[in-house]
Amino acid sequence: MRPKIYITRKIPDAALQKLQESCDVEMWPEEAVPVPREVLEDKIKDADGLFCLLTESVDSTLLSAAPRLKIVSNMAVGYNNIDIAEASRRRIMVTNTPGVLTETTADLTFALLMAASRRIVEASEYLRSGQWTTWSPMQLTGQDIYGATLGIIGMGRIGEALARRALGFNMRVLYYNRSRKQELEASMGLAYAELDSLLGLADFVCLMTPLTPETRHLIGKRELKLMKPTAVLINTARGGIVDEQALYEALREGTIWGAGLDVFEEEPVRLDHPLLTLPNVVTLPHIGSASIRTRTLMAELAARNLLQGLSGQPPEHLVNKDAFAAEENG
Ligand code: DGY
Repeated sequence: MRPKIYITRKIPDAALQKLQESCDVEMWPEEAVPVPREVLEDKIKDADGLFCLLTESVDSTLLSAAPRLKIVSNMAVGYNNIDIAEASRRRIMVTNTPGVLTETTADLTFALLMAASRRIVEASEYLRSGQWTTWSPMQLTGQDIYGATLGIIGMGRIGEALARRALGFNMRVLYYNRSRKQELEASMGLAYAELDSLLGLADFVCLMTPLTPETRHLIGKRELKLMKPTAVLINTARGGIVDEQALYEALREGTIWGAGLDVFEEEPVRLDHPLLTLPNVVTLPHIGSASIRTRTLMAELAARNLLQGLSGQPPEHLVNKDAFAAEENG
């Protein structure tokens, strides 16, 4: 019998066709509207595989409604939307899409850093709204990037790709990570710093860690106070890493100079969110990996992971390997 797959959003044709070759596929057909939870709860009942996005909460309630489910394939590198412990307990594989989005996400992170520090969005609005009446020495002045100090929190693939870009701007790069990356220190000249000292030294602080119970609100009032009043905070990882109320106050009171945010604790962000009222914040709708090529590759990789898992091969990117290794060894 062909396995049944449910896909929670319209995905690129090439990935869909690959899945249709060997599976019975049902797909939520919309692009701009997420699948309603009740539809997902109904579809999951007889699914062998789920292809989902970071917008779906794959929690214990959903997993308990899915007696046949063998694999959840997330089309994202982050998987904080999935209850991994519960999936492992139920022997459900969880996969993600690392690697293919690294350079695209690093590009966007650097673009956001540049936009926030040189006030690109604000300056464009200034022109369009008719405020540009003359050139003036200190008009719309920002912070220099070339030669500044970049602090990267979380030195994974994307952090490393960001560091490569920063070196082209002659930046000094500090990083904080759970484990030291001595080979990168030697090959790229990066310097390891403890979190508090990185926050005090960096002109730009970029958050590049996954969202876990340990990193939730890693940046709060205390950490923002440690930063320079001229510093810019960039977050293209997950909104929950920052305490948004504390960030709002820090930006309003001038504790830090600016921020660039591609992610929010609650997405889509509410239009009356206080952070959206500040001129010193550049905001984007979670587009870190949003290039045509990369999103296509992510969909294809998510499809491959799913097919591998359903056919009994180890998927290329299995998140909960430990649960399955324990089963094999035990
Ligand atoms: C991810 O993959 O986790 C990003 O947030 C979206 O590409």
